[in-house]
Amino acid sequence: MNLIQLLLRRSSSLKSAIFTSILAAATMGEAQTNTSAPAPVPTFQINAGKVVGSVSPTLYGLMTEEINYSYEGGLYGELIRNRTFKANAQKPLFWDVVGDGVISLDTNQPLNAALNVSLKLDVSKASKDSPVGIANSGYWGIAVRSNTVYRASFYAKSHKFSGPLTVKLESADGKSVFASATVLKLSRKWKKYEVTLTTGNVGTSKDNRLVISTTKPGNFFSKHGTVWFDVVSLFPPTYNNRANGTRPDIMQLLADMHPAFLRFPGGNYVEGNTIAERFNWKETIGDISQRPGHRSPWGYWSTDGFGLMEFLEWCEDLHMQPVLAVYAGYSLRQQHVDPGTNLAPYVQDALDEIEYVTGPATTKWGAQRAKDGHPAPFLLNYVEIGNEDEFDHSRSYDGRFTQFYDAIKAKYPDLQVIATAPVKTRVPDLIDEHYYRSQEEMEAQSHMYDTRPRGGKTKVFVGEWATRVGSPTPNMAGVLGDAAWMCCMERNSDLVINSSYAPLFVNVSRLTGADHSMQWPTDLIGYDALTSYGSPSYYAQVIFSTHHGDVILATDAEDVPTYTWHPSARRRGGVQQTPPAPREVPSLFFDATLDSQSGVIYLKVVNRLSTPQSVKIAISGVRTVEPEGSAVVLKANSPEDTNSIDEPTKIVPVTETVSGVSTDFTREFPPYSITILELKTK
Ligand code: AHR
Repeated sequence: MNLIQLLLRRSSSLKSAIFTSILAAATMGEAQTNTSAPAPVPTFQINAGKVVGSVSPTLYGLMTEEINYSYEGGLYGELIRNRTFKANAQKPLFWDVVGDGVISLDTNQPLNAALNVSLKLDVSKASKDSPVGIANSGYWGIAVRSNTVYRASFYAKSHKFSGPLTVKLESADGKSVFASATVLKLSRKWKKYEVTLTTGNVGTSKDNRLVISTTKPGNFFSKHGTVWFDVVSLFPPTYNNRANGTRPDIMQLLADMHPAFLRFPGGNYVEGNTIAERFNWKETIGDISQRPGHRSPWGYWSTDGFGLMEFLEWCEDLHMQPVLAVYAGYSLRQQHVDPGTNLAPYVQDALDEIEYVTGPATTKWGAQRAKDGHPAPFLLNYVEIGNEDEFDHSRSYDGRFTQFYDAIKAKYPDLQVIATAPVKTRVPDLIDEHYYRSQEEMEAQSHMYDTRPRGGKTKVFVGEWATRVGSPTPNMAGVLGDAAWMCCMERNSDLVINSSYAPLFVNVSRLTGADHSMQWPTDLIGYDALTSYGSPSYYAQVIFSTHHGDVILATDAEDVPTYTWHPSARRRGGVQQTPPAPREVPSLFFDATLDSQSGVIYLKVVNRLSTPQSVKIAISGVRTVEPEGSAVVLKANSPEDTNSIDEPTKIVPVTETVSGVSTDFTREFPPYSITILELKTK
């Protein structure tokens, strides 16, 4: 198929874009709608008799990494911040002393080699009226709810002190105690202590803390007692009641997206700033008290409590398949490992990792997985080699990819291997492309894949993409760019077989300033310690992923209005470049898929304009279309409108019945809207 045929087969709006650009007068500003001629009513033609490809069943998935407090202070159920005291080598960050005690980090009393620092508490000034202890306020608060059972645990050892210790869940000012439990006796050797804290009818709040304290200054022989702590942990009920599990509200938001896969653990997080700070999967498995943790490239400490097994269980809980990104010998500060013998241990690590995920319990790493609580292997189809390796200035990726590819294919020939940058010496099964764009840029590239040549073996995985408008989560302008782009990917999902918005999560508790919770300003789902919400872009993902057919229909369009986009000039190497020439960009976007079993056409239409747009819809290749259909509509009054932690459902999809449908009908699409029409054909 030549380029022109491809354009005609897949393109919508192209003819009219060219037509209107001839009419376009010189325009000012960033994006200007053309009003120089009375606009004809646009037509969308759908040929339901002409299937141009299959919709990839794995088109809609998730991408995740530790950024914006995604797991720590996010999805991971742990409520205690810096539970292993390794966030800072000088001071016990996020820990407060209660009463007249003294706390300090102590490297002389380590719990073990992985957790080589503990928190020392001098209790010698404790009394009945003035208890001494330690307190932690979590990740910008600890959620307390009525009639809820919390599991608190910690490792401790003591000197000249044998207890008791009181464990309390209380308000930040200490005035309200919501639940408490006692550990009667402490050992002189490290030991794990576990209690449950059960709240009564205490309401819902987040400005709270966990306190472990005593009223005793020492033991019978001395009043100079000391206690050391490590792995101080507090869990609320989790999704599917997993012991080291996830937050139910956030999991439910994700479940509603029906994601097909989870790409993890990055992103930059798989690479780390340095080789030492990479995601070293072997240090993220097993008992949480054996995980050393590491610094995330996004500037904060990760305990790795959310490690490889937790990612896999997350996949299992939401019926997603893992897309496993393995460390490939390149870290963000330009450290790299040359292909050859130096790289061999990293390749072996990846093979071991795949065996941990997929191997029977009779294999070394399969046995380790069984020991870690999951005897059954996980299904794995995709392995990604690194992340954004085009940023590797040493240009070593081709060689590194080849070494990983050959080793993985030799042992696991059925695995699909994903490259993160173009390579020449092997043909990857997929190439991971990333697009972070403005609304106009996203819309301008909304026909990009229509003309991408088919026929090669390599499919496309758009592993990270987002219209970066709105913060901390996207606004309606962002959604319109997203939806234009999703129409493009879906229309081309014979080629683009996987896609995932990024970043997925942001803790919105402290957006700026010291100890900020956000590192990346436009993210799909926001939360604080108590509640979570989906951005309008989240809802666009939900409706796109749950409303499509299994085959792509041929479409065309006429008289689609356009606007003139004046791209801004970029700076390159500190030098301001000449701005690119203005471009005509469509203002309406669409794609059509068909459920070949039920005969339902899913027609997705995006109107980025501030005015309602009438569109003629002409459906050929079917006998009839039932007069009544349905529409799912996501719209806003202004492009700036958005959802937030305080107004979580301002913009949500609404389903309505549509009448007057036929093979030839006209429908008005609201301003700033996405509409998914479900039309039953015969
Ligand atoms: O999604 C945020 C970052 O963007 C990812 O970590 C990285 O892959 C990309 O540059």
